[in-house]
Amino acid sequence: EEIPVELHKVRIVQKLHLKPIDDRLNAIKKGGFNTFLLNTADIFLDMLTDSGTNAMSDNQLASMHQADDAYAGSQSFYRMEAAIQEVFGKELVLPVHQGRAAENVISKTFIKAGDVIPMNYHFTTTKAHMEINGGEIAEIFTDEALKIKSHHPFKGNIDIQKLKDLIAKYGRQNVPFIRMEASTNLIGGQPFSIENMREVRKVADEHGIMMVLDASLIGENAWFIKQREAEFATSSIKEILRTMCGICEIVYFSSRKVSSTRGGGICTNDHDLYMKMRDLVPLYEGFLTYGGMSVREIEAMAVGLIETTDETVISQSPGFIDYTVKELDKLGIPVITPAGALGAHVDAMQFLPHVPQKEYPAGALAAALFIVSGCRGMERGTVSSVRLENGEDLLADMELLRLAFPRRVFTLSQTKFLIDRLHWLYKNRELVGGLKFVDEPKVLRFFMGRLDAV
Ligand code: F0G
Repeated sequence: EEIPVELHKVRIVQKLHLKPIDDRLNAIKKGGFNTFLLNTADIFLDMLTDSGTNAMSDNQLASMHQADDAYAGSQSFYRMEAAIQEVFGKELVLPVHQGRAAENVISKTFIKAGDVIPMNYHFTTTKAHMEINGGEIAEIFTDEALKIKSHHPFKGNIDIQKLKDLIAKYGRQNVPFIRMEASTNLIGGQPFSIENMREVRKVADEHGIMMVLDASLIGENAWFIKQREAEFATSSIKEILRTMCGICEIVYFSSRKVSSTRGGGICTNDHDLYMKMRDLVPLYEGFLTYGGMSVREIEAMAVGLIETTDETVISQSPGFIDYTVKELDKLGIPVITPAGALGAHVDAMQFLPHVPQKEYPAGALAAALFIVSGCRGMERGTVSSVRLENGEDLLADMELLRLAFPRRVFTLSQTKFLIDRLHWLYKNRELVGGLKFVDEPKVLRFFMGRLDAV
C-alpha cells in the first residue's frame, strides 16, 4: 500500500465527537435522511464537501490581520487582484461572494432564451443559473466519462465531434460560450487535458465562440495534468495554470474550493467582456472592491491563490483520495477509478443493487453510512437532479456517494476508519432500503429536501 505523506504539520486542532449510533439514527431521522440537514455536533468526519472546509495555512491566517476595511478601494482587494493576475494571468478582476454568484453574473450577461451551452459536465448551481436565464445545458462528454471503472486519465474531456455536431445543429448564434469545468465535480472529480482544451479552442475559434473555464477545482486538475499529460511532466503548476487559463476568455471560480474558505471571482483579459459583466457586481454582490466578501476573506483568498501553485498543497487531497479509492477497490467496493479530485466516489447503484434508482440509492447510502459511522458524505445522484414536468424524476447519469477530502483536514487513521466502516456496510448492504421525498423544494431540492424510508 502506498501511504500518502503530509508535507505540513498540524498546529491548530478542533475537537470531534463520535456519538452513539442511536443518537445518529435520531439525528438523520430529524434531518429528513438528508445529510445537508445534519448538525455537525452529531458528525464525526464531515466529508460532505471541500467547499469552505479546506484547512487554511499559517500565512493565510496571518494575512487576515492586515485586512483593510474600506467600502471602496481596499488594499486587500488590490492584493487579491494581484494574486489573480499572477496565478491565472488575467488582468481584469470582478469579485463575487461565491462561485454561484459568478455563474449568476455570467449567465445573466451572456445567455438569452433558447441558447444552448455546451460543457464537459454541469454542476448543480451552474445548470440552475443557466436555465433560469432561458438557456439549456448540453453535456458533451466522451464515452469514457460515465464508466465507473476506467484507466482513462482524462474522463473530464469534451468530445470534439459532439461539440462540432452541436454547433452545427443549434447554430453559432445560439451558443453563447463553451464551458469547461476543471476536475468535473459531478462525475467523480475527473480532470480534462490541455490537449483537449486546445482542440476545443480550435473549434471555438472556427465559429467565433468564447470559452469559459470553471476553475473552482483548477489546482487539482493542474496536478493531474502534471501527473498524466506527458507534455507537462516537467512544467511547474504555475505554468500549467497559466496555460489552462490562457486558453479561455473568461475564468471564474469558487474560492471556497480553490483557495480559501469564502468568496469567488471572475477574471478576463477582454475589456469588452469585463464591461458587459461589471455593472451586475454592485447590483448583486457589493462594490467592485469587495463583491460581498469580507476583507479578511479577500486576504486569505489572495494568499490561498498563490498557495494553489504549490504542489505540496494541491496534491494533498488527491493523495488521500487515491489511497482511499485503491483500498476500497481492493475490498471489492464499487468506486470510481481512476481516483479524481475532491473526494472518493462510491457507486451506489452497484453498492445497493436492490434499491431501484427512483428510490435514490445514493441518498440511501449517504444516510446509512452516517448512521453506521458518523461520517457524512454527500448524495450526488437523482436527489441532486430535478423533477420533470410529467412528475417523474430526471434520473441522474450516476448515483454517487461522494466522500470529500477537504485539503489537509483528515488524518490517515481517520481515513482508515472510514474505509473500515464502508467495508462493514458493504458486507451488510441488504440492511439499507430506499428513500422517497416527503418535502421537495422546486429549485436545488437536494439542499433542503426531506425524505423518508419507502
Ligand atoms: N462550480 C463548481 C465546479 C463547484 O464545485 C461549485 C461548488 C460551484 C461552481 C459553486 O460554487 O459553492 O462557491 O457557490 N461546489 C460545492 C461542492 C458546493 O460541494 O461541490 P459556490
